[in-house]
Amino acid sequence: MRLNIFLAIVFVLLVLANLYVRPDETRLNFEFLPEMVRTPSYKAFDTNENFSNGMTFQAPPANTVSQDIAPDAYGASEADAIRAGEELKNPYGADDLAAYTRGGQVFKTWCVPCHGGGGKGDGPVAMRGFPAPPPLTSQSALAMKDGRIFHVITHGQNNMPGYASQISAEDRWKAVIYVRSLQRPALDAAAAAAPASPAPAAGAAPAAPATPASPATQEVRP
Ligand code: HEC
Repeated sequence: MRLNIFLAIVFVLLVLANLYVRPDETRLNFEFLPEMVRTPSYKAFDTNENFSNGMTFQAPPANTVSQDIAPDAYGASEADAIRAGEELKNPYGADDLAAYTRGGQVFKTWCVPCHGGGGKGDGPVAMRGFPAPPPLTSQSALAMKDGRIFHVITHGQNNMPGYASQISAEDRWKAVIYVRSLQRPALDAAAAAAPASPAPAAGAAPAAPATPASPATQEVRP
């Protein structure tokens, strides 16, 4: 009985208190741990007193490898470029039409600005003062192995910057296939000229050694 009277009084007091404390629409509600409700935000290049170097944008810890950039055993040096040429093989076959098509897109997007559509070194960037690259059909480029061209795209060469962070390894290999297709006429001409000199025996038939040689060296004819 006493408990009921007490509860009734508490109830009435609560109703009265509720009527008395009118909601104030203009006032914010109570925030528990306001820093969690409103996290302080920093822009990437803001100064930041939370880090010992005072910067917001932190460099990744040493030896960190990005998930989508495969570890690369080669440096940017000429020696490593040559080694890449000896050791790396294109995972895509020269007759892989899908790889060739994609390689063409990669080339148009990333290489044409400097190298030009036909690889002559007359892209719009080169036409506006950037040191013009040599034609991709020059002797030095023809002599490059696939792995070395891959290395040039990955690490750059002299005035050409590396594109490892913009172009995936797969796309770089596909671009190599496309570069080879641009070089095809020059490679064919070189292959036709080459067997003539080291063929002292059959002087009457200089065309004969060229025939078995071409299917082996022919890579792309899409
Ligand atoms: C910013 C301009 C630029 C872009 C973009 C560029 N290159 Fe180059 N590239 C150059 C220059 C300049 C050279 C010559 C470097 C040198 O003097 O050794 C070169 C050299 C090369 C060579 C070696 C040629 C040789 O005979 O030594 C290859 C192969 C090559 N580039 C392929 C590519 C491919 C493939 C792409 C696209 C993925 C590309 N480049 C994008 C400027 C560029």
